[in-house]
Amino acid sequence: MTRQTGRVHLAQLRLRDFRNYPRLDASFVPGFHVLLGDNAQGKTNVLEAVYLLATLRSFRGVGGAQLVRHGAAGYFVGATVVGQGNHEIKAYWSVKERNLTVDGRPVRRLNEYYGTLRAVVFCTEDLQLVKGVSRGRRRFLDLLLAQTQPGYLARLLRYTRALRSRNALLRQPRPDDQILEGFTHELIELGNQLMEARRDLVPRVSVLARAAYGRIAPDTDELTLDYTPSVRGDFAVELAKARTRERTLRTTVIGPHRDDLVLRLNERSAAQFGSEGQKRTLAVALKMAQAEYFSAVHGVMPVLLIDDVMGELDARRRAGLIPLLDLAHRSGGQVFMTCTEENWPQELGTGLHRWRVEKGTLRQQG
Ligand SMILES: Nc1ncnc2c1ncn2[C@@H]1O[C@H](COP(=O)(O)OP(=O)(O)O)[C@@H](O)[C@H]1O
Ligand SMILES: [Mg+2]
Repeated sequence: MTRQTGRVHLAQLRLRDFRNYPRLDASFVPGFHVLLGDNAQGKTNVLEAVYLLATLRSFRGVGGAQLVRHGAAGYFVGATVVGQGNHEIKAYWSVKERNLTVDGRPVRRLNEYYGTLRAVVFCTEDLQLVKGVSRGRRRFLDLLLAQTQPGYLARLLRYTRALRSRNALLRQPRPDDQILEGFTHELIELGNQLMEARRDLVPRVSVLARAAYGRIAPDTDELTLDYTPSVRGDFAVELAKARTRERTLRTTVIGPHRDDLVLRLNERSAAQFGSEGQKRTLAVALKMAQAEYFSAVHGVMPVLLIDDVMGELDARRRAGLIPLLDLAHRSGGQVFMTCTEENWPQELGTGLHRWRVEKGTLRQQG
């Protein structure tokens, strides 16, 4: 299965005016870190900062402004990443200024930045992967591809730009045919590449997700992941056929921006027919698959960020997650897990680094 050749960990985290942290300087060894504390103390905020360093996004789906501590002008998040070379990451954000550097050099292209730190988050919002609209599932696929395939992100960004321009043109009363033709050409070329990458990815992730689901599900449900592109035949032909509809709706009606990933349990849509428990299990299985996929491709376990979900899972399902946590542990990776004193999973045993989170402060407890 997973071949580990390298190890990467977050050795230091520095926060300034990030969420409810005026200032945080913490050092972390590899291994298992548990962040304990009451509600609303800042546990999830720490995971959010780590995820932000890895992906430049909040897993809570908010923009920069919400991450700035109330009353402050901007936030700073910095990290020392150790393994396969040491790196200093610094990210500053304010309404007026954004700044991202690695080892003191400004980052010009996002695709060069990704990979400096890899993280997979397990959080309540994951349930939306199963229950929510297709956008979340496209994002799931795009993140997997952006972090494993050189060039994918650049193509995705170019596709999105072409799509935006094309839609803006379609909204005009009399779109210029020649300009439209230009955007259409770009859309098709890039769109085909995106669809090919997704088509190729899904079966690989599917195998991992099925196995993960099998490990955590209390029954014998059979999980399938089906890539469902909005374009069924030739993109150029389908797009030409859609011209009348495009004229009426004034937008690009087909293309990878409308793709979906259909999740089925025993051949039935999990979103429509799955129980709450099944959906939750499936969401966790998708994230386990993501972590295992990164680990298989890069030979390095990503940092695992586990926000409260252990408390939401019953004992049987928790047990299914433990082999992945153990693997992260044994392979010199890192796990950060939040919980309150009450839902603290006893089965995790010893060898943990415990941290107490209180009103925007972090204190090591041994
Ligand atoms: N931009 C912000 N500025 C200051 N405080 C914030 C900001 N965003 C969230 N908070 C505070 O952070 C706390 C919630 O942190 P969180 O990490 O979600 O808590 P928990 O420990 O329950 O995971 C709340 O007290 C909230 O008011
Ligand atoms: Mg929380």
